[in-house]
This record gives sequence, C-alpha cells and structure tokens, in this order.
Amino acid sequence: MADTISRRELLKAAGGLTFLALVPAARGRFALGPLAAPVADLPLFTALPYVQPGNNSRLVPGREQIILAWQTDAAPAEFNVVFGPTARYGLAAEIAVSRRWAGDKEDGEARLNYAATFPDLRLGATYHYRVNRGTEPIAKGYFTTRKPRGTPTRFVAFGDNSYGDISDRAIAFHAYQARPDFVMNTGDNVYEGGLDNEYARYFFPVYNADLAAPRIGAPLLRSIPFYTVIANHDVHGKTREQHPVADFDTDADSLAYFTNMHLPLNAPIHPQPTPTVGAAARLEAFRACAGKRFPRMANYSFDYGDAHFLCLDSNLYVDPTDATWQAWMADDLSATDAPWKFVVYHHPAFNVGVEHYEEQHMRVLAPLFERHDVAIVFHGHEHNYQRTRPIRFAPSGPGAAGRVNAKDRLVPGRFTVDTAFDGRRVTRPDGVIYLTTGAGGKHLYDADFTGQPSRWLHQEDGNVAYVERLVADRHSLTVVDVQPTELALRQIDERGREIDRIRITRG
Ligand SMILES: [Fe+2]
Repeated sequence: MADTISRRELLKAAGGLTFLALVPAARGRFALGPLAAPVADLPLFTALPYVQPGNNSRLVPGREQIILAWQTDAAPAEFNVVFGPTARYGLAAEIAVSRRWAGDKEDGEARLNYAATFPDLRLGATYHYRVNRGTEPIAKGYFTTRKPRGTPTRFVAFGDNSYGDISDRAIAFHAYQARPDFVMNTGDNVYEGGLDNEYARYFFPVYNADLAAPRIGAPLLRSIPFYTVIANHDVHGKTREQHPVADFDTDADSLAYFTNMHLPLNAPIHPQPTPTVGAAARLEAFRACAGKRFPRMANYSFDYGDAHFLCLDSNLYVDPTDATWQAWMADDLSATDAPWKFVVYHHPAFNVGVEHYEEQHMRVLAPLFERHDVAIVFHGHEHNYQRTRPIRFAPSGPGAAGRVNAKDRLVPGRFTVDTAFDGRRVTRPDGVIYLTTGAGGKHLYDADFTGQPSRWLHQEDGNVAYVERLVADRHSLTVVDVQPTELALRQIDERGREIDRIRITRG
C-alpha cells in the first residue's frame, strides 16, 4: 500500500482531479491505492483520463471542442462521461472507442483507446467532467478552454523528454508549478521509438501523475491540454537504405503520436507524409485506430489567446523547399490576425551543437518566417537550451535542404544579426528568435559548451555569433507569458532556478 496523505493535501497536489478509486485509510487519510481496488472488474488503465486540444484551430466563440482520452487493456467496459460548467455536469459526452496493439510481436497485447468529445464549448471557460463506469464514478476533473484574444496566457515549452529518467519528472513538476494554460512540446516527447507501450511506461505516468513532486512528475494532463510536434523518435525505424520509416513489422504499436494525440486537423496532407512499412493487416489496424489523424495531423496550426502557432513536421523525409508546402505555410501565417506568431518544429534551423548542426534543412524557411513577422521559432532535438539573437537569414540557394533523408543538409547563406536586442532594455527585435528548448529530460548534449561563447561559432556560418545564450549542463523548460504587446520568456532549470529571461515588446 502506498503512503497515506490527508484529503486536503491530496486535492492540492492532484491538480483538481480526484481519482475516486482512492482507498480510505485510518482517520480521514487517503491512500493512493491501485485504481482497480474499489471498483470490481475495472479494466486496467494504461493511460488515465487526459485532456487533449481536439480539432480546434481558429478561436470561434461557442464552437470550442475538447477531447478527454484514456486507454485501458482489452477488457471491455461501459464507460460514460458527463460534463458541464459546474460540478453538476448536465451534459453527456459522445465516446469513441478504438482498438490497437501494444508491445512487440512476441508479446502483443490489445489496448482500447477511448476519446470523449465535449463539443460547442465557450472560449476561456472552465468545465467539469466525470468519468463513470456504468453508474460508478471513476474519475473527475476540470479543464479550461482556449482563451480569447486580449487575455493574458501562459504556456510552457520543452522537448526531448520522457524516458523514465528522474529529470523528466523534475521538468514535469516545474511545468506544473508554472500553472500554464497549456503545454507546447517541441517533439521527441517519448523515447525510444514513439511506441504506444512507451507512452504507457514513460509519458502518461509522469505528466499525468497523481501527485506533484520533483521525483514523481505532476498531474498536468488531466486538466491541461498538451500539444506536441512529430519528431525523429516518433518515426524510429530504418529502411535498408537507413532512411527513417515507421516499421510496423518490428513494432506493432508504432506511431502512437497519431493515436494518443488529438490535435487540430486543419492542414492539408503533407506532400511527404510520414512513411510506413509492414504487414498490411498491421497497417490497416493502425489506420483504423488513427482515423483521419493519419497522416494529416503531422502538421497543424492553432490560436491561443493573442498567439498563433504553426506546428510543422521537420523530419528528414520532409522537403521544406516544396512549393506547395511553403504556399500552405504562407497562407496560414497571412490568415491569422494574432499579434504574435510562433512556429514550432523539432529540428533546429540555427543551432551550434555537435549532434545535429548539419540538419539545417528548415533554414530555407527563414525568409518566409521573416516576411510573416514570426516572433519566435521553437525547437528541440538538441538536448540543451539555445537562444539565438534576432536573425535575418538570406539562404544563398536551397543548399542541401531538399536532399530528403540525408543527414547532412547544410544551407549556407548570409546572416544579419540584431546585436542591439538584449531582452531587457532593448526589447524590440529585428528578426526572428530561434529557441531550442530540448533539455526536457533525456540525457544532455554538449554540457561543456555552457558559458563558452567561443565554442558557439561555426566556420560554415562565417563564425557569426548568432547564439546569445546556451545552457547545456542541466535540464530546463521554457515558460512564456503572452500579452497583446509583450512576451516574457523565462528558462527554468530542473531545480526551479531561472537561467535566462527576456522580454519582447511591440506596438
Ligand atoms: Fe530529436
């Protein structure tokens, strides 16, 4: 039996959601017993109920949608979900169930994925939900829908996180401590291969833990939407030519990004969709579970408060010089009236680390982002923190950007760097800031680069000092406060210490 705590302590730490399967212990104490304990024949939960952003892109009053998803083993159960603006609920959610495989081929097990849809919600409003099995309550909680324009919002960003390491949990805890409206993950949110069984082991237990503590994680996902981008570890198999591919013969539960996440579906299907191989029956089973999310959901965009986010697949099978694709990005960025535009993708265009410096293909998009007044591009992939000065970059041509699946994709060009911006006294940047926040938990890269600006230069880039701050000797996350004319960014390390801070102003 787990340690017991008071009900008050529990509610405080559990982020507002109580799993009703708590076992009462002596004198008003509650033990976090196994979920199955009080309800007979309850299936085993491999993912406790978690909130997902759903298919929302533009902010439309009264049309907001949220998904509450969970996953169990294959034992069927009659769940129902009620929701409403108060804990009196009043509305019933529609629940979709789909089946998929977890585990490898010798030890495959079926999983049931549930998704309850809460439609036609107001913007910036709190709703309560309760999950029942028949008439028995299983879990209850609340969430807040996206905030409308003109409302201050806060999000946290981090990437390259879960692999069962202690630092994942510390970062989850500090993300929770920041009380964000949502999480924007920069990719590689679970290792090693983006498999469903890895989500069950390394992801859900940490970001949807029952208690908040640095050595445990935090109850984030039960009330806070989690956005992410597809990254290299989501597509971890290799073809004979060593090209990335999701290999369903090796892993029947590949590409769990497309089955566990419920993100906006507003982008056209990419000209270079996520590649798959494997037996037809396995692929069919995956497609049946993913539905229209595969392959469309690899790219999407959405608004939140005063910000617009364009989220892109930057994997090595993608050609960012593709004209169709650039046209969609340009349309998307022109169509929004949000004061702040952000782009999120995994492979950093401008980074000075040893591991992934050559994967520069996304650089060819720099002029497009500058034209559309993008404020910040967020990435991961490099397992450290790097913040560039405001950059304007003129590629001298496509370079190797279009060499899909090649590791070396250098894009040479001319840099114009705003050296006056310091984020304190001079807060109006001339150019785009590229922020690599890939220190979310997995082992760090280039720890000895910290505090050594002379090592942040590359001959191929004419030794231009475009990185202003690099911290690689500790894990960290980014906390961003968005207001109509001001952004405040803070980088917080795994012990809760601030290691960087800038302000950006406009208007
Ligand atoms: Fe990566």
